[in-house]
Amino acid sequence: MNTIKKIKINSLYIHIPFCDSICPYCDFTKFISKDFFKSKYVKQISRDLICLYKKGYKFKTIYIGGGTPTCLSLKDLRKILKLTKLLLNKNSYEFTIEANPESLSEDKLKLFKSAGVNRISIGIQTFNEDLLKTINRDFNINYFELINLVKRYIKNINVDLIYGLPGETKQDLIYDLNSFTKLDINHISTYSLSINPMSLFYVKKVKEVDEDISRDYYDTILKFLREHGFERYEVSNFSKPGFESKHNLTYWKDNEYIGIGCGAGGYLYPKRYKLSSSLTDYIRGKRKFDSEIVHKNDNIDYFLICNLRLKDGFYLDEFYKRFGFKFEEKYKKIINKYISSSFLVVNQYKVYCTDEGLIKLDLLLRDLIKEN
Ligand SMILES: C[S@@+](CC[C@H](N)C(=O)[O-])C[C@H]1O[C@@H](n2cnc3c(N)ncnc32)[C@H](O)[C@@H]1O
Ligand code: SF4
Repeated sequence: MNTIKKIKINSLYIHIPFCDSICPYCDFTKFISKDFFKSKYVKQISRDLICLYKKGYKFKTIYIGGGTPTCLSLKDLRKILKLTKLLLNKNSYEFTIEANPESLSEDKLKLFKSAGVNRISIGIQTFNEDLLKTINRDFNINYFELINLVKRYIKNINVDLIYGLPGETKQDLIYDLNSFTKLDINHISTYSLSINPMSLFYVKKVKEVDEDISRDYYDTILKFLREHGFERYEVSNFSKPGFESKHNLTYWKDNEYIGIGCGAGGYLYPKRYKLSSSLTDYIRGKRKFDSEIVHKNDNIDYFLICNLRLKDGFYLDEFYKRFGFKFEEKYKKIINKYISSSFLVVNQYKVYCTDEGLIKLDLLLRDLIKEN
């Protein structure tokens, strides 16, 4: 890999595929925690991190996600964080770790802070005790106490909220929104429950809420969070000004990144890759992966799919630089159709969706992609 290439890669994702218990909706790459596997896994992750260090990488964003990174022991976390510290671009960086409320402790928070972690993403999901039981999560945790503890070590906090859970009413959602905003944090990721094959909910034939309800819940979230000082900067992500997730913006702006660990994906132009989800392969040191060279047209599709999710859309000259033709010329007919229905704005510099356009994004994308 040459030097020019290295400078372009600003982001690293590290996947930790272990959880203490399995949520019935989840289809991420994850395995029930077993100390034996965890320590072997950490050894292999360390090997990959050392390899990146030797190649001279310095990242502006690092994200340790899962699974549940916090279900690793302090000792294992220390091993990983000693190495990630060497990979941070010290001038400016965002270093996020994902945490589950059950496995977050003050000792771990102290360690995170000393290792340069400056952002944390906590999977709260809901405050509703019955719904927490339905999704097999611990319902005995006081989230206010937890977040106050976290704030002593890390100020930049995201919490995940799921809506559309089985049996959830609009009142339940409003109760959650009230509680989430009272936590006084600066980022909320909202997810409409999706039922994916490979999840227990799918096997149990749990259904997603129907489209009208989902739309109503989404509008409720948007209105409520805006009234409470949050800006929706991506279809499902809300932040106080200046607290957008820089790492996730790498994905949404369709920029390159390196992913390591079982089941992790990565994008090193012109290749997108996905590492095998086999834990045994990974801990035996085998790095099997599928990859595809992204053809120019597919690349345009990816670019549009990701960037149009953002409130700010993308710059016309950036599109031109990447693809060598003008967005506003090639898609003129479609652009006009969506501008006249007030779904899209195209000015001298930028293209972005209106509020309504973000909701109807699938229609716009379908039309744009058909042209490629
Ligand atoms: C990478 S996951 C896991 C993070 C962490 N292990 C946890 O569970 O808190 C990030 C988030 O995706 C959301 N999520 C996972 N599966 C989902 C599903 N089927 N439908 C909607 N949201 C989902 C949850 O809010 C979860 O916190
Ligand atoms: S949602 Fe999080 S804690 Fe639950 S199984 Fe998936 S990765 Fe593990």
